[in-house]
Amino acid sequence: MQIKINGRDIEVNSSETIFQAALRNRIEIPHLCYDPDLPPTGSCRLCICEVNGRIMSTCDTKVADNMVVETETKKVIRLRKINIELLLSRHKDEEKTVSQLQKLKKKYKIKNTRFNKKSCEVKSSKDKSVLKIADKDSGRKNNSNLSICLDNSKCILCGKCVNKCRLTQGVNALCFEGRGNEGLKITTAFDDMLKRSVCVDCGQCVLVCPSGALHEVDDISKVVAAIENPKKHVVVQTAPAIRASIGEEFGLPAGTLVTKKMVASLKEAGFDKVFDTNFGADLTIVEEATEFISRAAKGGPFPQFTSCCPAWIKYVEQFYPQFIPYLSSCKSPNRMLGCIAKTYYANKMGLHPNNIVVVSIMPCTAKKAECKRPDFHKHPDVDIVLTTREAARFLKQKGIDLTKMNDEEEFDNPLGEATGAGVIFGATGGVTEAALRTVYEFVTGNGVTNPEFNQIRGLPKIKEGSITMKGTVYNFAVAHGLSNAKILMEQLKEGKSKYHFIEIMACPGGCIGGGGQPIPTNDSIREKRIDALYREDRNMPFRKSHENPSIKKLYDEFLGKSGSAKAHKLLHTAFTKRKA
Ligand code: SF4
Ligand code: SF4
Ligand code: FES
Repeated sequence: MQIKINGRDIEVNSSETIFQAALRNRIEIPHLCYDPDLPPTGSCRLCICEVNGRIMSTCDTKVADNMVVETETKKVIRLRKINIELLLSRHKDEEKTVSQLQKLKKKYKIKNTRFNKKSCEVKSSKDKSVLKIADKDSGRKNNSNLSICLDNSKCILCGKCVNKCRLTQGVNALCFEGRGNEGLKITTAFDDMLKRSVCVDCGQCVLVCPSGALHEVDDISKVVAAIENPKKHVVVQTAPAIRASIGEEFGLPAGTLVTKKMVASLKEAGFDKVFDTNFGADLTIVEEATEFISRAAKGGPFPQFTSCCPAWIKYVEQFYPQFIPYLSSCKSPNRMLGCIAKTYYANKMGLHPNNIVVVSIMPCTAKKAECKRPDFHKHPDVDIVLTTREAARFLKQKGIDLTKMNDEEEFDNPLGEATGAGVIFGATGGVTEAALRTVYEFVTGNGVTNPEFNQIRGLPKIKEGSITMKGTVYNFAVAHGLSNAKILMEQLKEGKSKYHFIEIMACPGGCIGGGGQPIPTNDSIREKRIDALYREDRNMPFRKSHENPSIKKLYDEFLGKSGSAKAHKLLHTAFTKRKA
């Protein structure tokens, strides 16, 4: 089948939409509500084009033989501008909001909307706390939890967040409520506050929101205050995924590795030490492998689930509390490094732990909530979490252009040395691959012949494999995106799970697709970031966590053996049932 777009003949597949055919052929059509992973809602009307002389939205119109499509006629541009103005009429227009809508406003040189701003009053609410914290500017409620904020005064009702939360994550925290232009809004069940909803803090809704209505809780000012406080020793750690994505915020192509430039930027920004969360990942693997071997000796419980993703942990605590004992008791790499910074490193440096501030740069909004968990809050391992996007904003505020920094700066020791196994934690399947490299050697006494487990790499939704150790076959599985995790959980519930080890990351693609990552994040960008991490892995002098010389030294000097009482006290935790 053939169609013509802007005079170009294009071969199309009858099941695709005009928009998909254009995208595949690199013909850009403006859009806000389209998302490649979600069904079209056709709500923003910005993808309109002339189709056989008629104005039609293209994201929800299937191709037909001999269609003639014009994407940028005078009429299309005039109507598209009107549609942008209409969207702006219900959007609190702030220059500081960097969103797809603001970018289109600039592109089409729109100064102000000619349409009346929607009345923004909260008419009534039974919940007094909602009224008390009503946003003075808009009259709408300021609705946030520990990780994300929903500002309805910016929302254009595209519905992507609702679909993302429901279809990709299977959480259903968000919904539409009310009717008509005045009443319709995005909210949570029973119009309650986000903090009392079932939201698991993954931030996937933030990644797709085109208006900036959903955004992370901003913690940049806390970092600035800590650095300016002369009594504080401020250390920062960067998660594996950041080195493969933060460059995008500075205009570099997706998948550009900027490890050393990133370290140089953070030193320039005033941090006392720059540590690598990959070190924490190596430590996690050593503890998690030891836990797996001890479970195998006791006959279970299997599967052992990974525990490094806090959104996944909250998901289990809320929706599958009966399987909490299956979760590894290991803290996340982020928490492990923070804890070692405030104990081992503090001792070495002669610092009081209370004077150390641990800042974590994470691809993740859920890590913000993790550091405020009740079990964590009294003696926080980590004090402040910035997402990749916030870290880039922070550097820009300091006048630092990451691309211009030197490419030689190394992480600081003793918590800066890491292996390739730590690096690949940032990609879906990476934790399992790292664990296999170590468990196999711990159990058999021999190294794996090939450290690369290709069957669990890449973006298939659920990946699986098996490994034989001392005559016993162990099955493992990897899922990313919580709706995929749900499939494995339901198997377990029905007694049909054959797995001994399951890795779950709440975000599609793993941490490289985390809710705190640069926008846009889509499959092609996820693949490039993943490739970058595997490249880094291949170039590392050590590729197995237990071979990390700094980890060996940490056990020798401080923790004793892996799985020791001291290691358990500092590096392990417990999870508790939550009301869903
Ligand atoms: S952060 Fe995740 S769980 Fe929470 S509302 Fe957004 S998509 Fe849903
Ligand atoms: S909050 Fe954002 S993603 Fe959700 S409906 Fe509003 S504009 Fe769309
Ligand atoms: S992108 Fe097609 S209507 Fe919004």
